[in-house]
Amino acid sequence: MSENQAPSSGSGRLNTGVAHNARVWNYWIGGKDNYEVDQAVGDQVAGMFPVIRDVARADREFLGRAVRHLVENRGVRQFLDIGTGLPTLDNTHEIAQRSAPDSRIVYVDNDPIVLAHARTLLTSTREGATDYIDADVHRPETIVERASATLDLDRPVAVMMLGILNFVLDTHKAQDIVRQVLSAVPSGSYLVLTHPTTDTDLGGEGNVEAMKFWNENATPPITARTRAEVTAFFDGLEFLEPGLVSCTRWHAATDSPTTVPQFGAVALKP
Ligand SMILES: C[S@@+](CC[C@H](N)C(=O)[O-])C[C@H]1O[C@@H](n2cnc3c(N)ncnc32)[C@H](O)[C@@H]1O
Repeated sequence: MSENQAPSSGSGRLNTGVAHNARVWNYWIGGKDNYEVDQAVGDQVAGMFPVIRDVARADREFLGRAVRHLVENRGVRQFLDIGTGLPTLDNTHEIAQRSAPDSRIVYVDNDPIVLAHARTLLTSTREGATDYIDADVHRPETIVERASATLDLDRPVAVMMLGILNFVLDTHKAQDIVRQVLSAVPSGSYLVLTHPTTDTDLGGEGNVEAMKFWNENATPPITARTRAEVTAFFDGLEFLEPGLVSCTRWHAATDSPTTVPQFGAVALKP
């Protein structure tokens, strides 16, 4: 995308002079909705930490498996996808509605370029519904209130937080956000989460330098967390098998998935 194709900005201003996470993520998963500055930072990070492209792809594949599992085996029909990212080949509503056309999905992101592309996320089936909320994850009360226009919060909701809590730098605040959103949905709801780690058993050491570089050159600032910190997001919830694992290993499609330094898990609100 060239600068003069820049779509008009939403709540924030589209800044094509600084790399933005939604666009760099899009670059790593092979998308076209990114700028030179995003490609330069994306290449630099991938040079320091080559597994990052695998992480991005593995995260999207986890999203597909988790949504399909929840729709087909757990009867979930409502999704609140916070930190949606730029639309890509298979988005949450397309995956869910392929199996259950009456699924209702609300997307949330605060990046102006995601807002500019949001119409691609609003192509619902007639039986279902989709909506897009331009909001910051630091404002969970706003998210819940606006989501209630599309989702019936008396019925189970899968709250999806994939690659988003790593942008809430304060761990207590991040826990509080999860608690607030989960307290607004009934028993029978789910938390679907991915999160980067520096834990060595997942090969995460390289995240330290890569994230330092990111925080000096791109936006928004990011942090990784340990297994214990990520586990704490699931307080009061019941993990589905196989628990908190490298997201490649959650209901893996192959017998010998590789390990990536990105935790993934799905848990039930009892
Ligand atoms: C790493 S991408 C993940 C996208 C998608 N969930 C996935 O797993 O492929 C993180 C997304 O979170 C969004 N994001 C970052 N900080 C945010 C904030 N404070 N509020 C809302 N969205 C935010 C970014 O714009 C980006 O689209």
